[in-house]
Amino acid sequence: MEPKLDCEWNDDHVMPEVINPEVEFLFRRMIEVTYKKVNPKPGEKILDIGCGRATDGVELAKKGASVTGLEPSYVMIANAREYITENGVDMSVVHGVGEHLPFKPQTFDKVMCKGSLDHFLDPSISIKQMGMALKPGGEVIIAIANFESLGFKLGKKVFALKKRFSSEEMSDAGMPWQIPIDHTYRFHYSNLKSMTNDHLEIKQATGVSLLFGVPWWGQILAKCPRFISNAILSTLDGVARYIPSISDVIVLRCKLKKGAVVTG
Ligand SMILES: C[S@@+](CC[C@H](N)C(=O)[O-])C[C@H]1O[C@@H](n2cnc3c(N)ncnc32)[C@H](O)[C@@H]1O
Repeated sequence: MEPKLDCEWNDDHVMPEVINPEVEFLFRRMIEVTYKKVNPKPGEKILDIGCGRATDGVELAKKGASVTGLEPSYVMIANAREYITENGVDMSVVHGVGEHLPFKPQTFDKVMCKGSLDHFLDPSISIKQMGMALKPGGEVIIAIANFESLGFKLGKKVFALKKRFSSEEMSDAGMPWQIPIDHTYRFHYSNLKSMTNDHLEIKQATGVSLLFGVPWWGQILAKCPRFISNAILSTLDGVARYIPSISDVIVLRCKLKKGAVVTG
């Protein structure tokens, strides 16, 4: 089926029903690392593409940045506006898509796109548009799940072994390495790098978290005392930081390529 833009998309299904320590850690670190790379300064103009319910934008606005969220889903726009009001911050949310930004070129100091690019109909054009929206010297920060992570590779191998020796029919539908129905693209470090390099220059690539998706990993960690599971996850995260190709999430910090055309 041809992917279509979903203007009614909502995030009800994004968090799993059971939040084991590795899930909580992964989401938390993804946020922490992304904010660190965005490094919002008072007065900076920041665009958050695919802003969802604006939880990130609100945090950046609290640091004094002037944040605009862009979002195609009317459901998420309503959620975002409610969340912004609840938090009493100043942030605007605009209806639109990353493939066609409704802003003048060179408007923003920073453009961020967290957990969204693999929902876009044309991620490559969107990355090009991110570059065009940047003021000279600005930065683009992209955070996205890695579907060739070590965790997913091990998960698939363990599943294949189980299937081989099982007397029952086994399907891996719904396993974490399967592309969710609302995703349009399967990113991993290599295709993310090459798509980004077409339009931007990558200044820094950082891996976040390791081994999400390994069978029984969450249950094992859940049985450990909290300080032990945290220590294990932090140690793995420390390794992933330097090897984004195997990490669970990849965060890129980019600048405009020299000589890039920023209009049209
Ligand atoms: C998984 S959510 C991430 C939301 C938010 N960035 C976060 O991290 O909480 C993906 C978001 O991308 C939005 N989206 C889908 N297609 C898009 C497009 N072409 N341009 C911009 N946003 C899009 C969806 O509506 C959704 O809100």
